[in-house]
Amino acid sequence: MTSAPVPGVRTRTARPEDYDAIVRVADAWWGRPVTALLNRLYLHHFCDTSLIAETESGELAGFVIGFLSPSRPDEAYIHFTGVAPGMRRTGLARSLYERFFRLARSDGRSVVRAVTSPDNARSIAFHEALGFTCSAPVTGYDGPGQDRVVLSRPL
Ligand SMILES: CC(C)(COP(=O)(O)OP(=O)(O)OC[C@H]1O[C@@H](n2cnc3c(N)ncnc32)[C@H](O)[C@@H]1OP(=O)(O)O)[C@@H](O)C(=O)NCCC(=O)NCCS
Repeated sequence: MTSAPVPGVRTRTARPEDYDAIVRVADAWWGRPVTALLNRLYLHHFCDTSLIAETESGELAGFVIGFLSPSRPDEAYIHFTGVAPGMRRTGLARSLYERFFRLARSDGRSVVRAVTSPDNARSIAFHEALGFTCSAPVTGYDGPGQDRVVLSRPL
């Protein structure tokens, strides 16, 4: 457990059972249906490289689902990140990302990547603030009608 920038919030390595708390809040936190992109497999297979922020009473405050690419030895990848609406702009996501960056660097990874929707301006602004570069929208990146911006940052 380490302290997060929000008083009373701590971060820790995720556990498989955190999946249930994440899917309970995801659609509300994103303001649109996203649970179809959040399969249980991510917490089962990548909990050791994913992070949870929670209050002293165990309420979910934020999370990062990330992994060390098994196929690209230089790369780490962040699949999903969310922070509770009431805790945004406190630096919580930044602190979760920085902890993930340290973890990835310690495994010898030299770049972290993620993708986001071209219309998710908040996500793009957040990633740019953390030093990611954004590609132009890639048409059909995740299938028909699913355009994505590819985000990359050296570690
Ligand atoms: C994107 C998200 C994770 C950011 O979490 P957060 O804890 O509010 O981010 P931080 O407080 O660490 O912000 C770090 C910096 O990113 C930038 N940033 C964050 N949110 C921003 C916004 N809404 N508009 C513009 N810039 C923003 C700012 O530069 C900010 O620094 P500052 O507050 O000192 O200006 C959060 O808004 C969220 O959960 N959104 C819904 C889910 C989502 O879209 N996730 C990302 C795609 S998977």
